Amino acid sequence: MSERSHILLIDDEKNYLLVLEALLLDAGYNVTAISDPETALAFLDESEVDVVVTDMKMPKVTGREVLERVKKNWPYIPVLIMTAFGSIESAVDVMKYGAFDYITKPFSNDELLLSVHNAAELSRAHRQYRLLQEAMEDRYGVHQIIGRSRAIRTVLEMVERAAPSRSTVLITGESGTGKELVARAIHVSSPRKDAPFISVNCMALNPGVLESELFGHEKGSFTGAVAMRRGRFEQADGGTLFLDEIAELSQDLQVKLLRVLQERCFERVGGGEEIEVDIRVVAATNKDLAAMVESGAFRDDLYYRLNVVQVPLPPLRERREDIPLLVAHFAEKLAHDNGVVVKTFSTEALNYLTGYEWPGNIRQLQNVVERCLVLVSGGVIDVESLPPEIRDEESQFKSAVDLLPVELDLADTLEKIEAALIRRALVRADLVQVKAAELLGISKSLLQYKLKKYAITGH
Ligand SMILES: Nc1ncnc2c1ncn2[C@@H]1O[C@H](COP(=O)(O)OP(=O)(O)OP(=O)(O)O)[C@@H](O)[C@H]1O
Ligand SMILES: [Mg+2]
Repeated sequence: MSERSHILLIDDEKNYLLVLEALLLDAGYNVTAISDPETALAFLDESEVDVVVTDMKMPKVTGREVLERVKKNWPYIPVLIMTAFGSIESAVDVMKYGAFDYITKPFSNDELLLSVHNAAELSRAHRQYRLLQEAMEDRYGVHQIIGRSRAIRTVLEMVERAAPSRSTVLITGESGTGKELVARAIHVSSPRKDAPFISVNCMALNPGVLESELFGHEKGSFTGAVAMRRGRFEQADGGTLFLDEIAELSQDLQVKLLRVLQERCFERVGGGEEIEVDIRVVAATNKDLAAMVESGAFRDDLYYRLNVVQVPLPPLRERREDIPLLVAHFAEKLAHDNGVVVKTFSTEALNYLTGYEWPGNIRQLQNVVERCLVLVSGGVIDVESLPPEIRDEESQFKSAVDLLPVELDLADTLEKIEAALIRRALVRADLVQVKAAELLGISKSLLQYKLKKYAITGH
């Protein structure tokens, strides 16, 4: 045992208390022995106790009351009750109230030690689970969604508002905008956080496999179904089911999913039994589902069922003010994960990162930061160390153009691009017009003319 379990021992008979204390100490436990139950309960308030062992019959506060109060305030601490021989009824009673075990006096040392050992193991498992849970919340909580822009604050507000309910949530946004991160944040901020978060990627599997993955199957329902298997819906019972890339769902599965969402029950593949589940569904897509409904590729009834609360995630280029914050966040996190010292980006390098289009959004930004951290030897990352697609104008230009639709109004598009470039130059030049004109290689008067034309003021 790496760490000794701490046992709180309560018995009003002082001599007996001393004997038990010696026994447990001898067995390697950390023991606090207290003869007055009130004092013992107060002790629980300020100490970490793994197991409570209490006598049943005590003058002021009974073992049963101790049990009730421990269960109310520290439900995860197992309580072991020692009862006098013959009081079977009260033994049944305390078990009903959630005692871990009871032993009747007189008991052998081994009997007590075995029961204490089991209770300590349970307590340890509980503690580990709680730590894991805390780590999960730490890792996937809302505070992991970095950004101060108006756009991301709206997202956070929606997450906080949607989390407590069971409403289905549809998260939309380009690839790498944080859809999965948001789905997990909804789960860990919800009352379901202690139940599983089960994720299914609807694209990764072919329709037949996906069906048995989602609903499970009965033994012998198809070749290879050698045993009954519970599907993701069952695994997620009480928790959250995350359906990623929902647009890829086949027509057939769309119908089946609709039924689960409507009726909250389904059948395993090859089975007749109806299975009820209590799940919250969060779906995500980088496709335009509304357009797919228009074209008939996605069922409208399913779309309305999924689209109860929609959380649209903005592309990174629409919230550029968050980029320096994200860069600092990833630099620190990745340096920590890789065991290297944190590096900083020069102001100019940051300017380039802020100006880039980021077709791969936050995931791409994260990769770029990681690459720089690993490859650059100095403490400061400069423009030269940035990947070519960000540094190099030609490829920057190309990737920007790649984002545009092939069918477009050329004159209109060129104007939009011009306005966007001017805005960016102004920001880079800290709103100093002469500097912005210099960056763009035009005269100050031409710049002013264009500012007026595009109605650009300040930012
Ligand atoms: N606002 C944010 N703050 C910090 N990290 C973020 C943020 N948004 C996304 N990330 C990180 O970016 C990466 C990509 O996010 P995620 O996998 O959630 O994107 P996605 O929208 O599901 O992408 P895809 O459509 O490609 O599956 C993850 O490592 C995630 O932790
Ligand atoms: Mg994803």
